[in-house]
Amino acid sequence: MTPILQAQNVSKIYDMGTTKIEALLGVNIEIGKGEFVAIVGKSGSGKSTLMHILGLLDTPTEGEVILNGINTKGMSEKQLAQVRNNEIGFVFQSFNLLQRTTVLDNVILPLKYSTVPSSEWERKAKEMIEIVGLQDRLKNKSNELSGGQKQRVAIARAMVNDPSMILADEPTGNLDTKTGEEIIKNFLKLNSQGKTIILVTHDDELAQIAQRKIVLKDGCIVK
Ligand SMILES: Nc1ncnc2c1ncn2[C@@H]1O[C@H](COP(=O)(O)OP(=O)(O)O)[C@@H](O)[C@H]1O
Ligand SMILES: [Mg+2]
Repeated sequence: MTPILQAQNVSKIYDMGTTKIEALLGVNIEIGKGEFVAIVGKSGSGKSTLMHILGLLDTPTEGEVILNGINTKGMSEKQLAQVRNNEIGFVFQSFNLLQRTTVLDNVILPLKYSTVPSSEWERKAKEMIEIVGLQDRLKNKSNELSGGQKQRVAIARAMVNDPSMILADEPTGNLDTKTGEEIIKNFLKLNSQGKTIILVTHDDELAQIAQRKIVLKDGCIVK
């Protein structure tokens, strides 16, 4: 197994002045290229904190995150942003789309921060929108879409820079069961094409589709 992502002895302590919240304590994780891993645990167990750290959106208080064999500790904010944009696609519970912007323009957005020439943007975005089956909604504004459609746009946007992995934090949390299953099928499809998927969820049943489950409790891996 070639590790694509490693967390070594990662702790995160939120300093709230009078109190300190230990959100993660000595977490060790190794994720292989092409794996589909679920990170599960109850609300407050530290899943989102871990996801933000693995995705280089936040830095640990202690420990290291190693991506493709490169230690990210000490990287500047600019370097981290570049690594994120090239290597990681994010999907969140709340979709995080630009509401009054079209499907096409939402998916084009990450390309504007990439090295892809502008002449390629529309073609690449349309290709991803077709994969999630929304080619007939290109010109709709995202606030005109259903929850499931919004999440499919978010997946297309996460994929458009051809990242090596997808990090999804409760991606079905705002969707009904049936729509949630459809979203999960999109992740399975991407995984079968070789993408590494890290799915964060409190839903044990949903986590069953992953090859491997990492269980968090009170900031520690218990399984
Ligand atoms: N930005 C923050 N500031 C202070 N405490 C936080 C912050 N984010 C999360 N926490 C705390 O850290 C713990 C883990 O939270 P979180 O990672 O969001 O868990 P989960 O995603 O599993 O619900 C909780 O006790 C939460 O209140
Ligand atoms: Mg969370």
